[in-house]
Amino acid sequence: MAKLSKTLAPALFALLAATGAFAAGDPGASITRPAGYKPQAGDAALGEKLFNDTKLSTNGMSCASCHANHGAFQASFAKPYPHTVAMAKEQLGRKTVHLDEMVQGCMVMPMAAKPLPWDSKELAALTAYTASLQKTFKPSR
Ligand code: HEC
Repeated sequence: MAKLSKTLAPALFALLAATGAFAAGDPGASITRPAGYKPQAGDAALGEKLFNDTKLSTNGMSCASCHANHGAFQASFAKPYPHTVAMAKEQLGRKTVHLDEMVQGCMVMPMAAKPLPWDSKELAALTAYTASLQKTFKPSR
């Protein structure tokens, strides 16, 4: 799938939200770090593979479908975590998120999948790889 433009991707979320794709109750719970959670060091090379893997989603998307070449990231991505990400705030009621929580946020929202197990090497790897993308990200506005 082609890279989504910065303006198209948020519109897609509004559409997903309107179709009731997100859980009721406390919608932010599934992306909230569990009690006692300790982030582990991740393998960024494995993270890069997973980033391009459509098997992580239920809708044919990979992270790279939207985020190749820093696509779909907004200015907030340049800030240290935790910070506010509009999509997590609007769709899941989360005022601020850690990077691993935002990886989970994109798993449950755009990827239409379950969150990764918190103690998995996959979550640690995707978090490490997205942290490397953050280092070279320059907001366009
Ligand atoms: C359908 C498009 C789409 C897919 C697929 C997608 N994302 Fe996102 N992602 C977005 C959009 C749009 C935002 C920006 C939300 C905002 O700023 O409100 C975002 C935000 C993020 C952020 C937070 C940026 C910040 O401002 O701090 C991270 C990290 C992230 N995505 C990682 C991932 C990962 C990892 C995957 C795969 C598991 C993934 N995304 C899949 C569209 C997508």
